Amino acid sequence: MFSTMEDLRQECLKCQKCPLHETRTNVVFGVGKPDAKILFIGEAPGENEDLQGEPFVGRGGKLLDLYLGGIGLDRKENIYIANMLKCRPPKNRDPKPEEMDMCIDWLRELVRIMRPQIIVCVGRIAAQRLISPDFRVTKDHGIFYNKNGTLMMGTFHPAALLRDPRKKGDCLEDFLKLQDKIKELGIEI
Ligand code: URA
Repeated sequence: MFSTMEDLRQECLKCQKCPLHETRTNVVFGVGKPDAKILFIGEAPGENEDLQGEPFVGRGGKLLDLYLGGIGLDRKENIYIANMLKCRPPKNRDPKPEEMDMCIDWLRELVRIMRPQIIVCVGRIAAQRLISPDFRVTKDHGIFYNKNGTLMMGTFHPAALLRDPRKKGDCLEDFLKLQDKIKELGIEI
């Protein structure tokens, strides 16, 4: 149990729980406002994230920032962004279930400290692990689920939008729903 996000981060930076620590350049703990009410959770660091130690800094990250900016959100000002895995899987393969099992306590502790009102799962990997194992992004995106008092929603991963730009309109709708939900809950951003 940690009392502050900074204590948690410092401990996480030393993590050697799984073999991914052997190949990482940096632990990618997360970025943002530590007491934000909205938490975004992606999959795992890619090459750029591993090099810079910050989530979503590649092409996909730039696209995510555009969607965030469109509804007045900013990674440094009013949200927090983290990933299911804190270390890069080699060659950007999908995280293994056992890697997520070993890494999830960092996220649990983050959520306990932050107490976000809304969690947005960015892509299938996070949504299937955190919302439901049978979550299908194409079918279930943009729906808010109440999980023990926290609202959870899954949307498209920016890498999927770069692969198939036809999904961008649906993703925009999800962000507009998020904006409505933020207003409805009276969250100050
Ligand atoms: N993809 C993710 O899911 N997270 C990152 O930080 C980068 C790419």
